[in-house]
Amino acid sequence: MTLMKKADFPVANVRHFFEPGPVMLISSALANERDIMTLGWHTVLEFSPSLIGCMISVGNHSHRLIKESRECVINLPTSGLLDTVVAIGNCSGEEIDKFAEFSLTPQPASNVSAPMIAECHASFECRLFEDALVDSLNFFVFEVVKAHVAPSPKKPETVHYCGDGEFMLSGKHVSRRSLFRPEML
Ligand SMILES: Cc1cc2nc3c(=O)[nH]c(=O)nc-3n(C[C@H](O)[C@H](O)[C@H](O)COP(=O)(O)O)c2cc1C
Repeated sequence: MTLMKKADFPVANVRHFFEPGPVMLISSALANERDIMTLGWHTVLEFSPSLIGCMISVGNHSHRLIKESRECVINLPTSGLLDTVVAIGNCSGEEIDKFAEFSLTPQPASNVSAPMIAECHASFECRLFEDALVDSLNFFVFEVVKAHVAPSPKKPETVHYCGDGEFMLSGKHVSRRSLFRPEML
């Protein structure tokens, strides 16, 4: 195996190597308001209960809707929605209704009041599970209480943000299933 020659790298930019989970669209609702934001900073925290951590900046309109309603839907867009994903992440729902602005279809969820986005491949209904880090770090821990996933395609082309306006599209899948202990799968 090759030993890699490494150079000094600015610590503020290491996010470019960590980020590439799929970019999500978070939909939320509170009273007669609804909103959508683009989210790249998220992480899986636990299988069961199914916990997902998300960094939702306090400057975003969605932050208030989600903090007060304690609910949201995390939607998985595919590459055909890339321009919309960027546009949603570059405007505020304080002034516009992003469902109408971007011709997206709100669908009622079964367990939360936030609408699902019909054009997305999957929609995960979430309730706020832990808010201990919301005020200090804008970090919300959600429990996925219901998951809706399109049966096909089996491996949708998702979009992954690398910073600086650049995205990676998901592509080649490789399996190492046989190397895993069954309980680690
Ligand atoms: C690719 C991409 C990824 C983003 N990831 C995040 C994120 O992880 N957390 C966050 O708070 N904002 C993120 N944003 C910015 C929000 O989506 C943006 O501020 C949005 O306008 C908020 O909308 P709102 O004010 O209607 O809630 C991202 C934007 C883009 C384009």
